[in-house]
Amino acid sequence: MQKLIIDGGKPLKGDIDIQTAKNAVLPIIAACILTEDTVVIKNCPHLNDISAMTDIIHHLGCKGEFNGADLEICCKDVALNAINSDLTGKLRSSIFILGPLLSRLRRAYISHPGGCEIGLRPIDLHISGLKGLGVKIDDNRGVICCDGSEMSSATVSLDFASVGATENIMMAAATLEGETVIVNAAREPEIVDLANFINAMGGDIKGAGGSVIKITGVKKLHGCEYKPMPDRICAGTVLTALISSGGEVRLNNVVPEHIFGITEKLKKMGMDLAFTDRALTARFEGRPRAIHKLETNVYPAFPTDMQPQFCAALSVATGSSVVVENLFENRFGFTAELQKMGAAITVKDRVAVIRGVRSLSGATVRALDLRGGAALVVAALGAKGRSVIYGVNHIDRGYEKIESMLSALGAAVRRESE
Ligand code: UD1
Repeated sequence: MQKLIIDGGKPLKGDIDIQTAKNAVLPIIAACILTEDTVVIKNCPHLNDISAMTDIIHHLGCKGEFNGADLEICCKDVALNAINSDLTGKLRSSIFILGPLLSRLRRAYISHPGGCEIGLRPIDLHISGLKGLGVKIDDNRGVICCDGSEMSSATVSLDFASVGATENIMMAAATLEGETVIVNAAREPEIVDLANFINAMGGDIKGAGGSVIKITGVKKLHGCEYKPMPDRICAGTVLTALISSGGEVRLNNVVPEHIFGITEKLKKMGMDLAFTDRALTARFEGRPRAIHKLETNVYPAFPTDMQPQFCAALSVATGSSVVVENLFENRFGFTAELQKMGAAITVKDRVAVIRGVRSLSGATVRALDLRGGAALVVAALGAKGRSVIYGVNHIDRGYEKIESMLSALGAAVRRESE
C-alpha cells in the first residue's frame, strides 16, 4: 500500500509542463480500433486509467505499448472477445469501446462499467444514442450485447449533453455511410480533440465544440501521429494548490480558453493571473476570498472535476462559500476527510457550505476517488504540519507522479510504500 507524506506550508515556485489530458486520451485509445493501421499518441501520460484502457485493447487482440513517452497502438486484427467485468470494473471509460467496436465489427459484448464513488453513472444515453443508429441492444445479466448489423446514419438527439455518449456516437458513426447528426452534443474541449483525432485519421467530423455535430462516414480510416490536448483539470489542480500554499508558478502547455471557467473563479479568490499563448503565470499570497456561490455545470461553466479541489482551497477562505454539485449526486465524500484536517464543511444532498477557517492542520486521511484525493493533496500542501494520504491508487488514475510534479515546485511531498 502506498501513501503520500506531505509537510504543508512550503510556498510553490517554478515552472511546470502540464501533462496531456487523460480524458482526451481515453476515448482516443478506444478510437484506435477504428483503423487497422498503427496510431502514435504523442506524450501520453503514464496513468492507471491509461493502463486499464490499454489492457482492454490487449484483451481484444490488439497491440498497445509505450515507446518512451508515446503510446503506440495497432488494431490490425480485432477479436470479438467479450469484455468482462474484471476489465470494465476498473474504469467507467471502458464503455467508449462500444462505438469503435460496432464501427469495426458491427458487434460488441461488454459488461456494465462499474458505478463509482461519485455517483451511479448510468449509461442510458450511450445505449439510446447507439440504438438511434440502428444498433440492437440486449442487456443480458449485466452483459451489454450489441448487434450493429443493421446500423445506419441518423440524427440522434441527446436528452442531456453527456460527454461520453457524444464521444461514443461520434466513434460509432465515423465509418457509417451517410451523415449522422448529434443534437444537444456535449461541448467539452475533449470532444473537439477526439474529432480532431478522427479527422487526422481521414474522418469527416464537423461542428465539434458546438451543440450540433455532423459526422460524414468515410469508408476507411488510416493511422496517424497525434498529440492530444493538455490536461485542463491538472492545470486547475496546480492552481488550487497555489491558493493553498501561496507562491508563484508558471504553467506551460495550457490552452487558456479551456480553463476560463476555472481561472475566473480563482481571480475572484484573489489570484493574479497573466496569460500568454500556451502558458500562464499565477501568483497568490495570503488567504483566499470566499466565493458566494460556486456551481458545477457542463462546459464552458465551472467543471465538476475541479469541485473537490476548490472546496479544499475555500476551506481556508476569509468567509463562507456555498458549493453546488449539479453533475454527480455523490461527489462530496472527501469532505469528511477534510474535516479531519479542521475544515468546517457541512453537506446536504448536493450542496456544501464551507465556513473558512484560519488554517488547516495535517492529518492522516484517505483518498476515496480521483479528484477527492487531489483535494486532500491541495489541503495538505497548505496545512500546518504533516499529512499522510492513503488511497494513492485513486490519485494515480489521473495525475502522473504527483509527488514529483509538486516537489519540482518546492513542495515537501514524498511517496512511501508500506
Ligand atoms: C466525463 C469525464 C469526467 C467528468 C464528466 C463530466 C471522461 C473520461 N470523463 O465523464 O471526468 O467528470 O465527463 O464533465 O471524459 N449520465 C446519464 N446517463 C448516461 C451518461 C451520463 O445519466 O448515459 C449522467 C451522469 O450520471 C452524470 C452526467 O450525465 O450525472 C454527466 O456525465 P457525462 O457527461 O456522461 O460524463 P462522463 O462522460 O462519464
